[in-house]
Amino acid sequence: MQAILVTGGAGFIGANFVNYFVNKYPNYHVVMLDKLTYAANLDNVQESANKPNYTFIKGDICDNELVAKLFKEYDLKGVIHFAAESHVDNSISNPRAFIETNVNGTFTLLENARLHWLEAPHKVKPGYENARFHHISTDEVFGALGDTGYFTEKTPYAPSSPYSASKASSDHLVRAFNKTYGLNITISNCSNNYGPCQHQEKLIPHVISQCLQEKSIPVYGNGKNIRDWLYVLDHCKAIDLIYHNAKTGETYNIGGHNERTNVEIVTKICEILDQKVPRKNGQKYADLITYVTDRPGHDFRYAIDPTKIQTDLKWFADETFDTGIIKTIDWYLKSK
Ligand SMILES: NC(=O)c1ccc[n+]([C@@H]2O[C@H](COP(=O)([O-])OP(=O)(O)OC[C@H]3O[C@@H](n4cnc5c(N)ncnc54)[C@H](O)[C@@H]3O)[C@@H](O)[C@H]2O)c1
Repeated sequence: MQAILVTGGAGFIGANFVNYFVNKYPNYHVVMLDKLTYAANLDNVQESANKPNYTFIKGDICDNELVAKLFKEYDLKGVIHFAAESHVDNSISNPRAFIETNVNGTFTLLENARLHWLEAPHKVKPGYENARFHHISTDEVFGALGDTGYFTEKTPYAPSSPYSASKASSDHLVRAFNKTYGLNITISNCSNNYGPCQHQEKLIPHVISQCLQEKSIPVYGNGKNIRDWLYVLDHCKAIDLIYHNAKTGETYNIGGHNERTNVEIVTKICEILDQKVPRKNGQKYADLITYVTDRPGHDFRYAIDPTKIQTDLKWFADETFDTGIIKTIDWYLKSK
């Protein structure tokens, strides 16, 4: 059974991925490494916890000794790397943790993959010919768009926040390990995800939670910032395809053409909740919306051109925002 290290599997996207992957591939042994920061919740991977092809290790991706031990002990032949500090607002108030985990942590994983899989630059050890490192990144590395245009794989990097700058740095390191050492890597840059298991600090779960507690719903600035939303399972399926089918060194942008302004997202959630759990006082949830001071350096618009992954790997999103948001709200209502 081939062992694959999945980092950050107790977080939002990692947990959705672990449950999908452990179930789909009983012949892979998924070794899940997570430090269990405030953003983690092991309940998210409860359905995988007792599967014979899953092992959880609590630990830090920056801990070189631990990472080296895991490569050796499990003879890891793959890495799918989600672990990160991921919240832009936290990166503004406490950027250090973002550099440590997103840059140094990614370097520690790459360096151990190099030492375990390669004899010398561009010389793979026998038995490790297919060992691959897949790095999960974000469209935020490209900076902000104006009213028109899309991010492609050729868009120059121009990150705005300590979060996106740390992710950009990690992407560069991953690419450098491919060019310099011939490490078999792939990278994906995805748009904003939503779906089950997301931490309440992020926009969609936060809005749902504020509504259900009848508290004010804060919206940054004029609410006109645009994000391109992708249902988390569609992201997981794209990663699966890239990990298994992409050529070495390739980068793919992942997005499903679901651009919405923040205020459209908030209003849509309010409308759905008005139907599903109407307020007792007869008012609308949208009455709770409050505009608050904008985030510093707030990027105006992100939008992905997914032509490359659609053409090369035949990946298409299964959910539109209108179908995915219903599934998401139903999950939060069930788990509250
Ligand atoms: N959420 C999005 O919309 C989005 C979009 C595109 C890309 N991404 C990327 O996807 C990945 C996962 O994002 P997410 O939203 O699931 O994040 P998350 O914050 O929900 O989860 C991150 C996980 O990583 C773990 N972690 C943090 N530091 C660690 C460390 N030093 N060692 C080991 N584990 C550590 C945390 O405990 C947590 O379980 C990140 O790399 C992020 O940059 C996220």
